Amino acid sequence: MFKLYHSDTDSVGVLPPRSYYIPFASDDKKSYDREDSSRFVSLDGAWKITPYESVPDADRFWERDGTDDIVVPSCVQYYGYDRFQYSNDRYPFPFDPPHVPNVNPAYHYSRRIDIKKTDEKVYIVFEGVDSCFYLYVNGKEAGYSQISHRISEFDITDCVKDGSNKIDVLVVKWNKGSYLEDQDKWRFTGIFRDVYLLIRPKKHLTDYKIETDSVGSDGSVTFENKSGISVSAEFCGEVRSVKANQKTIFTVKNAKLWSAETPFLYDMRIEACGETVYERVGIRTVAIKNGLFLLNGKPIKFYGVNRHDFHPDKGCALSKADMLDDILLMKSLNVNAVRTSHYPASPLFYELCDEYGLYVMSEADLESHGSAKCDGGYDWEKYAITGNPDFRKNVEERNVCNVEEHKNRPCVVIWSLGNESYWGVNMKNALREVEARDARPIHYESIFADRNGEKEYYIDSGLHMVSKMYCSPEWMVNSYINDEKETRPLVLCEYAHSMGNGPGGLKEYWETMESSDRFMGGFIWEWADHGVRYGKDSGFKYGGDFGEYLHDGNFCIDGIVSPDRKFKAGTLQMKYYYQPLKFERNGDQLVITNKNYFAALTGELVITQSGKRTATEICVPPRESVSVKTNDGDLKAECFVNGREIARAQFVSKKASANFTPVKITSEYNGHALNIAAGKNKYVLDMRSGEIESVVAGGAVFGRIKFNLWRAPTDNDMHIKHKWYARFLKHAVPQVRRYCVTDTAVEFDIVVAADGLLPVLKAKLLYTFDVESVRIAIDYEQTDTSKFEFLPRIGFVLKLCSSFDKIKYAAYGEAETYCDMYEYAFKDEYESRVADMYHRYIKPQESGSHFLPDYAELSDGISTVRAEGMRSFSVLPYSADMLESAMHDHELPPVDGTYLSADYHMSGLGTNSCGHLPQEKYRTPSKGSGAITFRFGRKESGDGE
Ligand code: GAL
Ligand code: MG
Repeated sequence: MFKLYHSDTDSVGVLPPRSYYIPFASDDKKSYDREDSSRFVSLDGAWKITPYESVPDADRFWERDGTDDIVVPSCVQYYGYDRFQYSNDRYPFPFDPPHVPNVNPAYHYSRRIDIKKTDEKVYIVFEGVDSCFYLYVNGKEAGYSQISHRISEFDITDCVKDGSNKIDVLVVKWNKGSYLEDQDKWRFTGIFRDVYLLIRPKKHLTDYKIETDSVGSDGSVTFENKSGISVSAEFCGEVRSVKANQKTIFTVKNAKLWSAETPFLYDMRIEACGETVYERVGIRTVAIKNGLFLLNGKPIKFYGVNRHDFHPDKGCALSKADMLDDILLMKSLNVNAVRTSHYPASPLFYELCDEYGLYVMSEADLESHGSAKCDGGYDWEKYAITGNPDFRKNVEERNVCNVEEHKNRPCVVIWSLGNESYWGVNMKNALREVEARDARPIHYESIFADRNGEKEYYIDSGLHMVSKMYCSPEWMVNSYINDEKETRPLVLCEYAHSMGNGPGGLKEYWETMESSDRFMGGFIWEWADHGVRYGKDSGFKYGGDFGEYLHDGNFCIDGIVSPDRKFKAGTLQMKYYYQPLKFERNGDQLVITNKNYFAALTGELVITQSGKRTATEICVPPRESVSVKTNDGDLKAECFVNGREIARAQFVSKKASANFTPVKITSEYNGHALNIAAGKNKYVLDMRSGEIESVVAGGAVFGRIKFNLWRAPTDNDMHIKHKWYARFLKHAVPQVRRYCVTDTAVEFDIVVAADGLLPVLKAKLLYTFDVESVRIAIDYEQTDTSKFEFLPRIGFVLKLCSSFDKIKYAAYGEAETYCDMYEYAFKDEYESRVADMYHRYIKPQESGSHFLPDYAELSDGISTVRAEGMRSFSVLPYSADMLESAMHDHELPPVDGTYLSADYHMSGLGTNSCGHLPQEKYRTPSKGSGAITFRFGRKESGDGE
């Protein structure tokens, strides 16, 4: 058997981590694209692969060629090998450190490459391999590396020969270090980032460090040569020779500083021994002073997202174009910061962030969450891998790689020591390691401020900022701002879990964030849904869809954009709260404030009032305001920069109330029914339930207007829904206890109850009638409030023929809106097809509601059904039951009708899949009243409506 290393964490033959750069030959033309370097030889593309069940089966792999085709970089799972598995926090192998499973799949990758052997050196670089690999060149052992997201560089000069060279790589699925790579993701395997050769002079530059500062209007750039030879550095026209391990400082008069708003980069050219490195330098400062996080001296905020490497068709193997697409999309959504959760990104990603302007919290490849869950309970301390001395070196190495490889990137403004690994002694050592290497502020979240009152311990951790995930806005004030002992700034490394429909409640987060400079902002969890597109059947797959027994279901479908980067309402809500302009109304003035610290905002302001659009050019200096005169009354304001909307606001007065003049009714009992004639319509009231059983209007017949407390649980209802189920809320039906019929009205006292349980609600329903309509007023009170925090909703649902497929409405739209997720939307009149009113979530759920409607009117071309007076409504081609029962979008049954829901109240969405329940004010009140009118009309032919 060949020499095995993967049961330990020592790499073999891997060069010490250095800053990422690509050397060019001195006579290559200047370029920032590494493919243009004649010293860079890409090994991406066609390789051969042979899968082995276990490592011993792969013995002497370097003597063979791989048998099947594979394109590098990629994940083997997309080539039919191994299996897809999504696990959030539990290890996908038995917890028995340092051992990994004996059945440990191994993949032999091979290819040949022609090399012209000179006296120059040959290096091979792997930018990412999950989880570890053995490297053989021409049959000779060249080394072994682990840490999936580090850059592994080997000197293979002595192994290569002139002409054809054979490269053999054995990728192994698990290694001891896998205990430190328990990130919430699909567990992919393979050479998933680029591979290349670097052909370099015998003596050459190895490493360097660039640090910048600014004093007054001047900038300073310190270049530290961390190589054993002299190099020359050219900056702003000045060329300096810098001896081995020496520094030089360039001064830049009137420096243009780098920020995410102003991503200005200076060129630097480093030369040594026939090589040129084209560096780009962003001059900026980062510091924590007086409890504030300061960039270029300003208390900036992070309007951030957490980003994993994920693509639905490629897994974690992203191309530069994929990364750029994401960055441009983020910028278009007003995102200004990314946390590389929970491992360093590709070096290309950082370069793009420098260029396009995104702040980066660069996180070490480290998470050992599963150790807290390994005994079936939840105990961070007992089995902590970061408390295990056997893993000390590797915890440090992971952090050292993060810092050394990406230290020269101006976009990196914070180092993160890793995620969810507990504050074991190894973490404390890692903190010291990072601090010794770089001055940037250091972040780590997995330390428990509130544990047994050990707050002091938390403050004394030495970490430079407080970090929290999923805390409530109240916590931010009560437990952080009001804590006199706490002097550091606070960042939310994760907040607003964007699973399914939502997140709700961004308003409170951002009102709180904007209330103090000590809040650094936060990073939404997370950028994109991890839905896999693989296999014959259509649609995105999540945990469990591949038959794996350990998985976490659709918990990976928690992005603010879909796997293919499509938007949902939550995306637009994020964009709104991340917008750089604030709009306020002051009399007839619209006051527009630029929240940016560095960049002026120049754009076109479009104001719409009474249907008239007026456009004006505005230029708002950073942190300043301009005022624009407007007319009284409602207005919409949008600001466009280069034709793209970047910010918006609406000022709208109270909603319209419906015309309603009660008419006299005639009534007649028939069994359980009360037949009513009122105006043009006939109604049958069910005297058992107090509901309308049917309506005859304009020659058409409509069915039951059902009392309804239910909604198809959203992902953010994932916890409370179990309480709802336990109370059989979806089966609870009204029972009439008393009624009274007069010549204009019918009144019921009802209770709403499910079998075996106490009534959940009591209410008075009052039916009155107009020529074409019925109004249902309610006065209700929950009688059972002890077992769940709030009801999903309260209202009525009416099933219509699917020929009612056209809808006109005036409400917050046109994507869905809820009481805690609507500020992004304009209240307006919209028309749509019913089929488009449902947002196709990967796991079907409540969707398509519209907040504060004036009216909603359905039509089948002949008849109309119009609802008014509700606080929210939806018209959907599916019932709540259909949505709830389908596990995937493509499993939804065929459309069997149009479901009109009109709600007195609809609870907010919140972010409780990870985080707090919706705030009190967003819950269906336990006591309330309201009135909803249903109007049944007929479209006159030639009626131009
Ligand atoms: C956090 C964790 C993330 C992710 C999220 C839930 O606790 O840091 O990696 O698992 O929860 O989606
Ligand atoms: Mg985790």
